[in-house]
Amino acid sequence: MNDRVTIFDTTLRDGEQSPGISLNTGEKLEIAQQLARLGVDVIEAGFPAASPGDFEAVQAIAREVAGPVIAGLARAHAADIERAAAAVRDAERPRIHVFISTSDIHIEHQLQSTREDVKGGARASVAHARSLVDDVEFSPMDATRADVEFTAEVVQLAIDEGATTINVPDTVGYALPDEYARFLGRLYELVPALRDVVLSVHCHDDLGLAVANSFAGVQAGARQVECAINGIGERAGNASLEEFVMLLHTREAAVGLQTGVNTREIARTSRLVSRLTGYPVQPNKAIVGRNAFAHESGIHQDGVLKEPSTYEIMDATTVGLEANSLVLGKHSGRHALRSALEELGYEVSGQALNTAFKRFKEIADKKKQVSAMDLEALVTDELRDELRSWTLEWFDVEASNRRPPHATVQMRTPDGEIVHGNFTGDGPVDAIFRAINAATRREAQLREFRIDSVTGGQDALGEASVVLDLAGQSAAGQGVSTDIIEAAALAYVRALSNAERRVAAAAELAEEQRAEAEAQLTPTP
Ligand code: KIV
Ligand code: ZN
Repeated sequence: MNDRVTIFDTTLRDGEQSPGISLNTGEKLEIAQQLARLGVDVIEAGFPAASPGDFEAVQAIAREVAGPVIAGLARAHAADIERAAAAVRDAERPRIHVFISTSDIHIEHQLQSTREDVKGGARASVAHARSLVDDVEFSPMDATRADVEFTAEVVQLAIDEGATTINVPDTVGYALPDEYARFLGRLYELVPALRDVVLSVHCHDDLGLAVANSFAGVQAGARQVECAINGIGERAGNASLEEFVMLLHTREAAVGLQTGVNTREIARTSRLVSRLTGYPVQPNKAIVGRNAFAHESGIHQDGVLKEPSTYEIMDATTVGLEANSLVLGKHSGRHALRSALEELGYEVSGQALNTAFKRFKEIADKKKQVSAMDLEALVTDELRDELRSWTLEWFDVEASNRRPPHATVQMRTPDGEIVHGNFTGDGPVDAIFRAINAATRREAQLREFRIDSVTGGQDALGEASVVLDLAGQSAAGQGVSTDIIEAAALAYVRALSNAERRVAAAAELAEEQRAEAEAQLTPTP
């Protein structure tokens, strides 16, 4: 059996379904380019039928990202499949990923349908997808809670209609590793043709077993693993890409399986995804947590100083965590900045280079040394601004412990008008957030606020993350500055702009659905 495991990254689809994440097309493209650099085999770029924004992002990734297969997700409906096909059409290697549930719980309660209809839906949708692209993946959703004999019948139909990959999802993260392996083993017995296609696993982490189940899956014969950077995804998330890849890498002698991932790009990909999604990485998270390679106890430190292998099973440089030597200062010029950015993988020229240089100079004036991590944060920060956004022009915050803090802001509306707002709050951050609400006349509710430093040291850049709710939609935003009040305000304004775009998109979708329903009710002449 082949010993190469295909890495199917679903950060931009299942990962993006995590509450509060709202990536725009530019941000999704940036992540997809980095995933290509990381060396994943397949990028599931989104669910094109979900919204016009999702369609646009999948299409942009299909057109611009070279290397990996680009997949679009579709329910087993003709309209979804056609949207997915149109979105991925321009990719070097397009794939449509079709799913329909095979568990009775889903068939009865969610689909309100029958097993016979599910079989018909699977057959018709795979055939339809195959008429549009050569590479079709089929997933029997909630398979691990379904009857294995019935799932096998559906899988057989999908293979007969030309599916090239069969993915078996543990949709609700319920399976145990040995159960999952047995389920896959039984599918192989019931569907011998499964050996002629790629068997894939897709595991959720509700019981903390997503990586263990994925590993059990490859030991049972699967050769594609669906996973996400930092393990993000629905509820408790998906199998973490970095954990699964480093498991195969570190224990290759015992396991004998490889991936095509360039492990040195892992840390950077993790930071980019965390920064753009606003989802922090827990400090003790395996592989990419801040403490994953730190040794606290004296005995451990002593051992590592004498011989790293005493307490380290992996070298931090293997995942790209080496101390980066790249440092710029306030005398560095545009050329040095451009080469530093190129070294980090960013091709920046023209107006984008001018803007990056201006931001860099502002920071370098306040901070003696600008490191690779600072540059990464700055470039990512610049990417976040897009059309139809509010802009913070200036702010004043008076803070004291003798009277309540007061904030005044001047902002520019998405249409270019100048507006002002002020507020006296409980603290300086509260005051500026509420002054922004006053200026924009929006009733946004703060849900989460976090501030981290990009690097160590007293003059470190502050990176703020905000999640807020606006008219039933929640959205995240980030901001970077040497001044933490400014970082917080930038993050709030971006979250507000993202939430506003979501509110508008939801209203547009509701209007389309209403018009569609009305058209169906109107009798034809
Ligand atoms: O968890 C799941 O079942 C999914 C499918 C769409 C593959 O995400
Ligand atoms: Zn999933």
